[in-house]
Amino acid sequence: MPSDTPGTPLPGKPNSAAATTLSQIMTGSDTNLYGTVHGGVIMKFVDDVAAACAGRHSGGTALTVFMDEMLFLVPVKVGDLVHASAQVNWTGRTSMEVGVRVVAERWNESVPATHVASAYLVFVAVDAENRPRPVPPLTPVTPDDRRRWAEAEIRRQHRLARREAIRQHRTDNPRNPNGG
Ligand SMILES: CC(C)(COP(=O)(O)OP(=O)(O)OC[C@H]1O[C@@H](n2cnc3c(N)ncnc32)[C@H](O)[C@@H]1OP(=O)(O)O)[C@@H](O)C(=O)NCCC(=O)NCCS
Repeated sequence: MPSDTPGTPLPGKPNSAAATTLSQIMTGSDTNLYGTVHGGVIMKFVDDVAAACAGRHSGGTALTVFMDEMLFLVPVKVGDLVHASAQVNWTGRTSMEVGVRVVAERWNESVPATHVASAYLVFVAVDAENRPRPVPPLTPVTPDDRRRWAEAEIRRQHRLARREAIRQHRTDNPRNPNGG
């Protein structure tokens, strides 16, 4: 049960209000068995920056409830300076979609950064009792902000439809209590 008081709409915020960037140099402790940076290291980095962005937008605790479309485009290497930039793309009543773009550049070279990964995450703002609480509505300003909002709505519809389809399938096909 959401913990808001009905009739007290929160003021809107533009996409830029909570935009956040984190930067980190990748070291030997970040590698996988192939010698490149472990995908899980990048995923944690993405979750960290997105959580900071969602917390700033919502003005308090926001929990990751969904991470999808984590796209790894190019391997990240030891010695890369990685920047992860997050912004809120869409807001519902208590949930937000945050988009993250990750780029890498050599820590000691002045060359253009490479886009290495992108991700979309859903956060829910919660109160002290971990109950969903309302978030300030996003007020898209630029054409890019409006495009992000429209695309985020498509992703949300797909997420909810997928969740409902699986729920329905499980209802129609109950688990065998003896296994499987
Ligand atoms: C966050 C949490 C309190 C939400 O509880 P809940 O019972 O799912 O809450 P609701 O059903 O009211 O949903 C809250 C919002 O999430 C959205 N949501 C829920 N499941 C979703 C899904 N699969 N995809 C997209 N949005 C989803 C709902 O649409 C709703 O958004 P809205 O208010 O903007 O319309 C609960 O899921 C939780 O505690 N999860 C664990 C989070 C966590 O610990 N994360 C860290 C991982 S280590």
